[in-house]
Amino acid sequence: MSTDAPGRAVDQGAGAVQPPAHVAVIMDGNGRWAAQRGLPRAEGHRRGVEALRRAIRAAGDLGVRYLTVYSFSSENWSRPQDEVSDLMNLLRLFVRRDLAELRKAGVRVRVIGERAGLPADIAALLEEAESTTRANTALTLVVAFNYGGRQEIAAAARAIARDVAAGRLDPEAVDVEAVARRLHAPDLPDPDLVIRTSGEQRISNFLLWQSAYAEYVFLPIHWPDFDRAAFEGALESFQARQRRFGGRGERAGA
Ligand code: FPP
Repeated sequence: MSTDAPGRAVDQGAGAVQPPAHVAVIMDGNGRWAAQRGLPRAEGHRRGVEALRRAIRAAGDLGVRYLTVYSFSSENWSRPQDEVSDLMNLLRLFVRRDLAELRKAGVRVRVIGERAGLPADIAALLEEAESTTRANTALTLVVAFNYGGRQEIAAAARAIARDVAAGRLDPEAVDVEAVARRLHAPDLPDPDLVIRTSGEQRISNFLLWQSAYAEYVFLPIHWPDFDRAAFEGALESFQARQRRFGGRGERAGA
């Protein structure tokens, strides 16, 4: 992975533009990809992990600094037990097989989501992935596991309530920053671009707070088919957007 030039522009020509610093991905469509081929859903998820490896490599090469992937949502526990087991096993395999290579490539792993309630070995693997890559700086891979945006905001609200009850925080001082500081990874920048595959156009409880001003790109392909060309296409769509953050922007007559 050539991650030696973080923040490098996608187009090196005269009109070179900076890539989005933080790309977040809803990796959707593994099941449909498998069903279309008469394969078990587990095979769709397994091929989804291969697509994830491609995405990590492409993110580094394209100059993206943070890549967040929605690997297991708070709601995914409601899937049949064997599918939940398949997803847990894929995470185990991913960390065991890929951690050394990620470490070598300069990738820092962060994990967001609720740790309580996870199988003990999974919690330990996530902890190991974070601690052994802590010094890396080329690309930060944020794995959203047992993650829900509403749950994250509710946890921040609980932390605020505790601080107010203990007299450490004035209710009048509860502002946007006070909430943001109590999210799972408050030091990460907000995502600039959220990509969702599979053609579905919804947020599904992903980074609800952080994507307030993200641009969304919905791709018609299923996640196992996601490749570098698809990533580049999404970045091109992003570059064509005019971000206004609630202001009037720079468009003539805007
Ligand atoms: C959505 O596809 C995908 C998921 C619920 C899990 C995403 C997981 C991976 C890409 C592989 C696991 C990676 C790690 C690191 C554990 P879906 O099953 O909802 O597809 P469908 O909507 O077509 O049924």
